[in-house]
Amino acid sequence: LTLCVPCDSIARAVGADDVAVALVREAERRQLSLDLRRTSSRGLYWLEPLVELETSEGRLGFGPVAPEDVPALLDALQGDAAAHPLALGLVEQLPYLKSQQRLLFARAGITRPLSLEDYRAQGGFEGLAKAVESSGEAIVASVLESGLRGRGGAAFPAGIKWRTVREAQAEQKYVVCNADEGDSGTFADRMLMEGDPFLLIEGMAIAGLAVGATQGYIYVRSEYPQSVETLRAALDIARAAGYLGVNVAGSGRAFDLEVRVGAGAYICGEETALLDSLEGKRGVVRAKPPLPALQGLFGLPTLVHNVLTLASVPVILARGAQFYRDFGMGRSLGTMPFQLAGNIRHGGLVERAFGLTLRELVEEYGGGTASGRPLKAAQVGGPLGAWVPPSQFDTPLDYEAFAAMGAMLGHGGVVVADDSLDMAHMARFALQFCAEESCGKCTPCRIGSTRGVEVVDRLLAAPSQAERQEQVILLKDLCDTLTYGSLCALGGMTSYPVASALKHFPADFGLETTEAD
Ligand code: NAI
Repeated sequence: LTLCVPCDSIARAVGADDVAVALVREAERRQLSLDLRRTSSRGLYWLEPLVELETSEGRLGFGPVAPEDVPALLDALQGDAAAHPLALGLVEQLPYLKSQQRLLFARAGITRPLSLEDYRAQGGFEGLAKAVESSGEAIVASVLESGLRGRGGAAFPAGIKWRTVREAQAEQKYVVCNADEGDSGTFADRMLMEGDPFLLIEGMAIAGLAVGATQGYIYVRSEYPQSVETLRAALDIARAAGYLGVNVAGSGRAFDLEVRVGAGAYICGEETALLDSLEGKRGVVRAKPPLPALQGLFGLPTLVHNVLTLASVPVILARGAQFYRDFGMGRSLGTMPFQLAGNIRHGGLVERAFGLTLRELVEEYGGGTASGRPLKAAQVGGPLGAWVPPSQFDTPLDYEAFAAMGAMLGHGGVVVADDSLDMAHMARFALQFCAEESCGKCTPCRIGSTRGVEVVDRLLAAPSQAERQEQVILLKDLCDTLTYGSLCALGGMTSYPVASALKHFPADFGLETTEAD
């Protein structure tokens, strides 16, 4: 009997370890030979702990399984498995999964995170093998041609960044992976680091060969201890197998990696603050220019990318730039792992080509709110993303389409809210979040955020419409100052949740209209 139980931290948080222990104990009691594999998660989080049985037709799923379900489950597995009440059928036929286009998460739920054998069996290191045969220039050309844009949120064309670092003249260059995934509702970086660490290592090794860097760092937030542990173990395995070190995959070129752990500051996800933190300083935002691509870590040319950007590269090299750019729409090419969270029935990871609508994501995949109450809005792109009302849910998930409506895709996190959420409270929360997380370097963010909280409080306490409208004018003015005057995106984007809440939900602020401007 071969069973798979995920070892992803979300699955573990809802009891996957206890289920695994119960399965082993019960199998021993029955003298049943059991091969229990701790795989990564499929990302269908509402079904966790999801137990999968290997069969000749594919894997049969059961979930969510509790330890007390185990005896009956084993009875069923020894008899008519499909008749068990928790049976879900073939996992890969579940509509939530079957309709996805998984390039980055192709191995999710299938392989064991630290098994090189599993990784190789599922196409692992094919991209690196291609990179070893190619010149740095050719690799950069492929990344450029693929249309890949930075997945951290800013969507800058990755190939241009690679070319800039490659052409920079320096004795030493670096590749830095930003794994300080701090946005609310996001977990794709974590899922990938815990579940498929060799993919990130492969992407970074390819980047090192392409831009001429010999050293890389993965900066992981301290809230992700399992990512840190998994990556460190994976680095040792990859190094021992010759994929890192002085002679990367027989290329004759060197590249090595280290993991560095953050200390809980949201601002250290901003690339220049992250670099300061990596250098051992307090994370404070640097003015750009100079760009990190030219003067980054220790003042040297540095390729800084989010986990998902670097992990997208192996498939581009292995299957070709054209294969990759055939996914998506407009200038948003390839696939994006969207993350469904908040008040949602079917929370989890949905990797699809850009261009599906927010409605498909929230209603079809997500199944609407978990509470069963009407949808009020979805915040897309983290705590500093705009609140999108259902009237705009037919907008395609595309960088440009979202920008056109004053929103952004960011890192692909979608937090859903029902009609019980008070948007004035959320606007105040965004400003307070900015005040708490500001590095303090620039005035709009450091002081404007605190003044913003006060303005919202005055607005809500104002006795008349006229007095409320006065505060609205001030708040909008302050949003403009934050947008145009802040040094980085923390202050610059705090206006998104504030302005969108004000625009779409004036009643929550006690306003009859927001026509104050
Ligand atoms: P940005 O637009 O300043 O830069 C994007 C990237 O392109 C940077 O790495 C920058 O150095 C590089 N770049 C820009 N021009 C370049 C050039 N000419 N040559 C080479 N490289 C160049 O945006 P920023 O401030 O890095 O990121 C803002 C985004 O971060 C927001 O849109 C937001 O979505 C996202 N964000 C993500 C979070 C997460 O947890 N993933 C948290 C908070 C914000």
